[in-house]
Amino acid sequence: MNHQEAERTEATAAALRARLPWTPEILAVLGSGLGALADAVEAPISIPFHDLPGLPAAGVGGHQGRFVAGMLEGRRVLIQAGRYHFYEGHPAGVVLAPVRAAALLGVPTLLVTNAAGGVNPDFGPGTLMLIRDHLNLMGQNPLVGPGAPGEPRFPDMSVAYDSDLRALAQRTAEQLGIPLEEGVYAAVSGPSYETPAEVRMIGLMGGDAVGMSTVPEVIVARARGMRVLGISLITNPGAGISSRPLSHQEVLEAGEEAAPRFQRLTRGILAAPDPTWGTREPGVVSP
Ligand code: HPA
Repeated sequence: MNHQEAERTEATAAALRARLPWTPEILAVLGSGLGALADAVEAPISIPFHDLPGLPAAGVGGHQGRFVAGMLEGRRVLIQAGRYHFYEGHPAGVVLAPVRAAALLGVPTLLVTNAAGGVNPDFGPGTLMLIRDHLNLMGQNPLVGPGAPGEPRFPDMSVAYDSDLRALAQRTAEQLGIPLEEGVYAAVSGPSYETPAEVRMIGLMGGDAVGMSTVPEVIVARARGMRVLGISLITNPGAGISSRPLSHQEVLEAGEEAAPRFQRLTRGILAAPDPTWGTREPGVVSP
């Protein structure tokens, strides 16, 4: 991240702060087809990306490209519906701007979600997978560059996905009777889907799911000291696991089918009276 990008991200954060009545407890990044959670927010304040300096409009089918701030299950949430991907040609400074802006606001926790292909043959479409760890196979790391203020040069990734938050997610899933698998998310750059050989390779490397997002955000969030909880929705069998060709339409449809379950789980996790989740205050949403 160069000096100019750092200044741009600070401008994004300042503009975002000016629109928020409080500091959010959680930044929730919603993946393809999972954006409906933003509609459940109470007293929502909607902030399209293009209203904020430094953020271009985002646009992949199923991605809305806005922040929604408000209360969800009694917590102050900032929802990022839509995200930037490297495959759209955005530089790292843009892809990571929302997470960096949230970190600059003092948001302590990142909940990151995505649609992913199933590599583990037991994880069929509709499976919710708690991310235990990741493989960065994107061919790039978002921290390459001169280094950003507030980010260590060599951040630790040994527990990228917070173990207390993972335990909370598992407990909540069990209480709600929602099946929740756990596994390793492998990130590739896309935008072409994988070949069957690549899916086999990812399986041999220990990956359970494959997708084109999340890892850059998690790396930056960890570098900035945020705690991370990640959930993948398996939308399709990885290439070669089924004989059908992959399509983005299939990904969106699986998102729609799983949305109610995904929402129940996420809201249950937010509602949990767990001290590890952050402080709970009766947030007052005012203009
Ligand atoms: N591969 C990569 N990304 C994806 C997939 C997939 O099979 N499904 C949804 N996102």
